[in-house]
Amino acid sequence: MQTTQTLTLANDQISRWHSFATQDEINQAAVARILQAAHEAIAQYGSFLIVLAGGSTPKSVYQLLAKEQADWAKWHIYHNDDRCLPVDHIERNSKMARDAWLNHVAIPQEQIHDIPAELGNVEGAKAYATTLEGLRAFDLVLLGLGEDGHTASLFPGQALDNSADAVPVFNSPKPPTDRVTISQSRLNNTHGVLFLVTGAGKQNAVNDWLNGVAIPATLIAPKCGVDVYCLGVKF
Ligand code: 6PG
Repeated sequence: MQTTQTLTLANDQISRWHSFATQDEINQAAVARILQAAHEAIAQYGSFLIVLAGGSTPKSVYQLLAKEQADWAKWHIYHNDDRCLPVDHIERNSKMARDAWLNHVAIPQEQIHDIPAELGNVEGAKAYATTLEGLRAFDLVLLGLGEDGHTASLFPGQALDNSADAVPVFNSPKPPTDRVTISQSRLNNTHGVLFLVTGAGKQNAVNDWLNGVAIPATLIAPKCGVDVYCLGVKF
């Protein structure tokens, strides 16, 4: 693994960039980072609050986590966004995480908090905002990066909605159009952020990011900074 210097970019986001040579290397590093964050949070708070990324990139990391031994009873799972589709639809982020990982480890069901996006974006967001109410800061937020620089369901050119901890998304350029996302401000209330960025398709978004373009990924700017694990993109 080769780590570049820490950069301060758009929106005063502090980012630490890490490049990896193979899929196995980045997956193993991500698993190690997640397990370390869990160990530290459980030692400090007695629980580990992790927010999962959707899309396809994190699936292989989740599949490795399914084989790990961990203090699963102390893990609490959230999602940074989900699509407004039926609960068991193949494109649901919550289904991907359950199939790849959560159905294979002993995290108590009541500690796996899927976004009820099947209720629709407005009702789903209201329900999830209630789930998040009063929750302490997240311990680790996992995020992907879209080819247009989006992250979670924060898309370019869309007005930021920080009116609640979870908000509805309309007209998403990435189907389906209706989604639910944790808001930018709530995602920033965290002790750690790990972006997973793989594939040449993300190069333009990474170039914009590094050139100080305020793509939505730069809106995730907690005091702790963000770590960006990259494979197949140059920086
Ligand atoms: C989603 C995700 C989205 C995703 C990026 C990257 O619901 O699609 O939340 O933000 O993380 O679009 O997707 P890939 O990992 O599939 O490239």
